[in-house]
Amino acid sequence: MKFSKVIVIIVAIILGIGIEECHCKVVQFIFGDSLSDVGNNMHLSRSLAQASLPWYGIDMGNGLPNGRFSNGRTVADIIGDSLGLPRPPPVLDTSLTEKDILINGLNYASGGGGILNETGTYFIQKLSLDKQIELFQGTQRLIRSKIGKRAADKFFREAQYVVALGSNDFINNYLMPLYTDSWTYNDETFMDYLIGTLRRQLKLLHSLGARQLQLFGLGPMGCIPLQRVLTTTGNCRESVNKLALSFNKASSELIDDLVKQLPNSNYRFGDAYDVVSDLISNPLKYGFQNSDSPCCSFGRIRPALTCVPASTLCSDRSKYVFWDEYHPSDSANELIANELIKKFGFLRDGQNAAPSPAPAAIAPSPED
Ligand SMILES: *[C@@H]1O[C@H](CO)[C@@H](O)[C@H](O)[C@H]1NC(C)=O
Repeated sequence: MKFSKVIVIIVAIILGIGIEECHCKVVQFIFGDSLSDVGNNMHLSRSLAQASLPWYGIDMGNGLPNGRFSNGRTVADIIGDSLGLPRPPPVLDTSLTEKDILINGLNYASGGGGILNETGTYFIQKLSLDKQIELFQGTQRLIRSKIGKRAADKFFREAQYVVALGSNDFINNYLMPLYTDSWTYNDETFMDYLIGTLRRQLKLLHSLGARQLQLFGLGPMGCIPLQRVLTTTGNCRESVNKLALSFNKASSELIDDLVKQLPNSNYRFGDAYDVVSDLISNPLKYGFQNSDSPCCSFGRIRPALTCVPASTLCSDRSKYVFWDEYHPSDSANELIANELIKKFGFLRDGQNAAPSPAPAAIAPSPED
């Protein structure tokens, strides 16, 4: 063996050992739809689900569109902030390096995406949950090649995972006659199919190292402005709300079951259905003024479909529950996030405390 080759091997061993000591931070990996997208769809140029035009993002940073389907923060932003975790950038941002991922994690969420591959196909481009997990496996290969398998395994085990999808599987699939699933299934068989798929995906994430995971449930999606405007009365569509409730019940049971089955899994389920339902019925009680129409609308033309530069905005955005036809406002997201923080059992020291450092609830467990 040549001397230079020996040196290379020795250096590699020393570096290898040094690097295997991972002083990695706890970061988040976020899987979701438009409620959690922070810019992935902006990189999908043919996607019809876009938040790339004003007035999206008006109450955040420089006020320009940033890919969030809201005027401000997402629910995952607010929960992550309260746990003292960095906000992960969108996975499709090609300028990101391994170092960025080690420091901030990644967000795979995509507007129009669902648990099922066939959900939201009419948006032309979107990342379904299977696709998002496929991209996550790519991320794992990248990080392993950078810091070694052992350190990478530790990094991925200690990370926080968020999985927040499901409304598109109903709104942009099952409830739309254009989609095959709407006439292939009934409420019960569709739920079994959906939850069965989610079970496979959550087990796959566990096999890839996910141990700390939050599964978000659905809100009263029959009350989004778009669903109301489809009725003659303008009321919430109770049949659609019932689907959300049964999805939440089945998801909660799924998590109970997985926690028993998957070693060292700290999986939690939380939904804000009840509080959002109460907010919609009694907006004044929560300091809101409007809970049935979008803050960003296009004159009297309804549904407005999306918020565009020619739209007009409500006078006080913090007093509207809904930002556009589908998505809650920043202030409603704050209420939802606070409810989920309670449901997940993430403790905050005192009321209105500044974002606290990662509480014990998310501290990595010593063995697993
Ligand atoms: C969904 O799409 C992914 C590719 O993104 C593929 O690997 C997977 O097999 C598909 N799932 C089903 C159930 O067809």
